[in-house]
Amino acid sequence: MADDLLKTLTAQFKTKFGTAPAVAAHAPGRVEVLGNHTDYNEGFVLSAAIDCGTFFLAAPAADGECRLHAADLNQECRFAVADPAPSKVMSWANYVKGVLSGLRGKGPVGKGFVALFGGNVPLGAGLSSSASLEMCSGLALARLYGLTVAPLDLAKIGQSAEHHYAGVKCGLLDQISSLFGRQNALVMSDFRTLAVETVPLGPEACFLICNTAVKHSLVESEYNERRERCEEAARHFATVLPHPVKHLRDVSWAELEAHRATMDPVAAKRATHVIGENTRVLKGRELLAKHDLAGFGKLMFESHESSRTQFENSCRELDVLVDAAKAIPAVLGARLSGGGFGGSVVVLVRVGDAAGVAAKLAAAYKQALGHSCTTMIIRPSDGARLLAG
Ligand code: GLA
Repeated sequence: MADDLLKTLTAQFKTKFGTAPAVAAHAPGRVEVLGNHTDYNEGFVLSAAIDCGTFFLAAPAADGECRLHAADLNQECRFAVADPAPSKVMSWANYVKGVLSGLRGKGPVGKGFVALFGGNVPLGAGLSSSASLEMCSGLALARLYGLTVAPLDLAKIGQSAEHHYAGVKCGLLDQISSLFGRQNALVMSDFRTLAVETVPLGPEACFLICNTAVKHSLVESEYNERRERCEEAARHFATVLPHPVKHLRDVSWAELEAHRATMDPVAAKRATHVIGENTRVLKGRELLAKHDLAGFGKLMFESHESSRTQFENSCRELDVLVDAAKAIPAVLGARLSGGGFGGSVVVLVRVGDAAGVAAKLAAAYKQALGHSCTTMIIRPSDGARLLAG
């Protein structure tokens, strides 16, 4: 299917620009499996690149203009290579403009480009379609301009595009997962050292994504607010603990328990979630090493409960799905995935159970809410790569 998509996009590129692409890259979306809102607290996350993503095809332009065509929207944005400023019109182009701006900091970027992108990451599902666009455009444009950019630097360029061009003060999870994914495995990231490891999941397990298609109106500001509360909580711990505290990563569960009662109650809840998540990720890695999928799944349920009660980034639609998942014996675990406040639930299942569980969850959702959610089966997949050029 990915091959067919690439063929179609290549044909569209030729028709549109009258030339063949000189470079092409693919980058997958990602699913966050365990470790929620821990990345910007310098904590731990287990995630996976998924088997859907974005292709980006490009060729050099003769002058300083960039023509960027979004195949799925059939829209084209034009801008000067020397001035990739963000814009409210065709805001989808901001991700690529942000990446171009980051690449300009890595070396000379001469003329403009013509480019076309398209993919199959569902938008608004919490599967990081934006990071997948950033990473494939980054790989392709770096090659086009002959720039050498290390993967972690590319991840930081994508993050900076989110901060300065999309207004979301995200961590590095989405970009790192898209770059470092491996087939049938999870990506274990330490967001303090930026060390990334591969943790085998095994071919017998896969994930179901149940997309509520809910996007609560203030997602970006809610996200940024949670980040500020976490930073505030870290500053509080720095004043009461005998050792240095820069981020919530520096606070142990025992220290949290000792100080919770004297903290601002909201800050205490946010810290409880983040520190609990870090603990669960480390435990989860150990369970996966012992192939204990059921034990790992329990941690996913605990993670969701912590989101619901401590971080308050869940919503009724997500809770309905997780509750329904708990009632299905074949489900190993389920939780919200990504920023929260809508988006998707990720469900861990054995491959043979996936279709049956998906049907049951869809029916339970419809019955509880009167409208449908969409479900898809996803497999942990390889990370971003250059395809040609
Ligand atoms: C979004 C952000 C990530 C991360 C998750 C929550 O996906 O982009 O950086 O913070 O939310 O874990």
